[in-house]
Amino acid sequence: MKWNSADYMRGEREMELRKQAEELLRKLTLEEKIGMIHGAQLFQTAGVERLGIPPLKMSDGPMGVRQEFLPCGWQPVGRSDDYVTYLPCNSALASTWNRELAKETGRVLGEEARGRGKDVILGPGVNIKRSPLCGRNFEYFSEDPYLTKELAVPYIQGVQEWDVAACVKHFAANNQETERLWVDVEVDEQALREIYLPAFYDAVKKAGVHTIMGAYNLLKGEHCCQSEYLLNDILRKEWGYDSVVISDWGAVHDTEKAANSQLDIEMSVTDNFDEYFMANPLKEKIEKGEISEAVVDEKVTRILVLMMKLHMMDSSRKSGTYNTPEHRRKAMEVARESVVLLKNEENILPFSKEKVKKLLIVGENAECVHANGGGSAEIKALYEITPLMGVKTLLGGNAEVKFVPGYVRDEKKEESDMSWQESSLENGGGSAKEFAVNVEAEKKREELRNEAAELASRYEHVLFVGGLNHEYDSEGNDRVDMKLPYEQDKLIEELLAVNPNTVITFVGGSPVEMGSWLEKAKTVVWSWYAGMEGGNALAEVLFGAVTPSGKLPETFYKKHTDCSAHAIGEFPGGSKVHYAEGMFVGYRYNDTFQIEPEFCFGHGLSYTTFLYENPVLVQKNGLNYVECNVTNIGTTAGKETVQVYTASMEKKETEPVQELKGFEKTKLLLPGECQRVSVLVEGMIEKKNLRIGSSSRDIRFVIESR
Ligand code: BGC
Repeated sequence: MKWNSADYMRGEREMELRKQAEELLRKLTLEEKIGMIHGAQLFQTAGVERLGIPPLKMSDGPMGVRQEFLPCGWQPVGRSDDYVTYLPCNSALASTWNRELAKETGRVLGEEARGRGKDVILGPGVNIKRSPLCGRNFEYFSEDPYLTKELAVPYIQGVQEWDVAACVKHFAANNQETERLWVDVEVDEQALREIYLPAFYDAVKKAGVHTIMGAYNLLKGEHCCQSEYLLNDILRKEWGYDSVVISDWGAVHDTEKAANSQLDIEMSVTDNFDEYFMANPLKEKIEKGEISEAVVDEKVTRILVLMMKLHMMDSSRKSGTYNTPEHRRKAMEVARESVVLLKNEENILPFSKEKVKKLLIVGENAECVHANGGGSAEIKALYEITPLMGVKTLLGGNAEVKFVPGYVRDEKKEESDMSWQESSLENGGGSAKEFAVNVEAEKKREELRNEAAELASRYEHVLFVGGLNHEYDSEGNDRVDMKLPYEQDKLIEELLAVNPNTVITFVGGSPVEMGSWLEKAKTVVWSWYAGMEGGNALAEVLFGAVTPSGKLPETFYKKHTDCSAHAIGEFPGGSKVHYAEGMFVGYRYNDTFQIEPEFCFGHGLSYTTFLYENPVLVQKNGLNYVECNVTNIGTTAGKETVQVYTASMEKKETEPVQELKGFEKTKLLLPGECQRVSVLVEGMIEKKNLRIGSSSRDIRFVIESR
């Protein structure tokens, strides 16, 4: 092992904990130490009872604390005591552009994890959305590293306030599900440093994250969980990270490499715990003198220090709790601010509660629950309010709400004895999921479309709620394109043909193609998997109880081939994938090469209007701030997010035309109210234009900084 964490400059407290850990270490047998560095159950390591060392208990993450599984199998225990608060997914949280809400989300998750007796919560996922087709995008924040890290840091801090470790994942360049166990990522150093690593760097440096999960994929020829370059050179040496690295479940491939790497704990999906690479095979190699025991000592020391930091071995640990009304209130606050109003012509929205006496709701997603899907991020939610329920409870009994599904799915859910996670190491770990055409379902859909269109022609108010579900937004799958499934395009066209005021609403975790009908639609609303209160939040936005303030944290392309990774033919790649687009990810590509998105990064409308005035660049304590007045000149209260993009005056070839470097959300501004907003701008600003706007393509001012 090249790097010894004793080489760090540690604080006094850190040194004290390390000394205590080393004392404890001396009392441990090799077997006991080995037990602490690999899974002894699916979600926990072995403790050492005789010395009062507990096992380390982990749970997914990131939308709530996952249900309990049997210790040795992926069957849920099936009790009634593991329902939890279901939080909005990270894409939803990112749409709020609200750091305080990110912290609150972390706090809820940390308190619930502790309440459920966990030590490590396996989140947040901070991987960059390199393609809109990645099946796990709903678990991630954004295509932009700055937005991702600005929200991930308070989130992690919030979790860790509760004596629980966050586990930032998946380190690193884990941006697709296809062949996820074996795909080897080639990415240039600049893109790695400026796009894919910043959120991990800030998690370490600013949030003080206690644990990091390595990724399944390879980077530059090495498996991430046993990588010299990633774990040793970058994470330990360069960043000085001194805490615990956990493998993804089944991401370790070699005893010697893993032992000699900076990985501390090996986890996997199978129940042959003693045969894990860092279990008996490692013990035997140490006994034969092939691997030094010192490498295990270092790992165990770090684990013991972590346990002390979390107060796992003293009586001062916070107890946490779960399912409190306060947690549900927080989930609701996030959901409210996550709804993105994409288009709203003729002020079709908000609906008036007083005027809507009859409402037709069309679309399966109006009554579909999503919590219990998507892979390891699944949640056993205490409840989940659907859009249909949200609207009906808001309107009450004096309005007539008629629901028809409008479409059905293609396939019945496969019934299998094996959980997906149990078989998740097969076939490269993931694939692009194609759905077979199902003639029966097509016939049924035609009937449902006719029914819906006939009704829509007779209703003044029609709300369509469609989009995706976790058959599409799912761990282990990538989508093959951005098309709406289940012939929803046809249905939407037919609804708009008979009722041009139909409000089009989507629930989903990643963007969809809208080109075939978008011009005809006056109003389009985007809601993510927005947690247990998602349906209530959406209803409040539709009926104007809340003014929408969500902004897109990713580009909504017209079609997936407008995204750089696809345009250059490098998604999902083969056994290797070359991130040849370099820095040109998301809007960085579209803006530089003038490719029109359907809805741009940072876009999101309001029911009111904000006037930007008096922008100035201010320097305080060596930091740069853009200040400007934002006045609500409309008639309803609302919030606005001021975004600052920097653009080099002498742009290099590899440089995008603009990059997000600051943002600030206003408080709730009443009509006529003005707030002086101060936006901290990250990084050097010499010879740069500072572009201040309401989205990446709605720039209100440009300040030159010479
Ligand atoms: C996922 C991780 C998750 C782990 C444990 C893996 O399949 O990639 O994100 O935390 O399983 O469920």
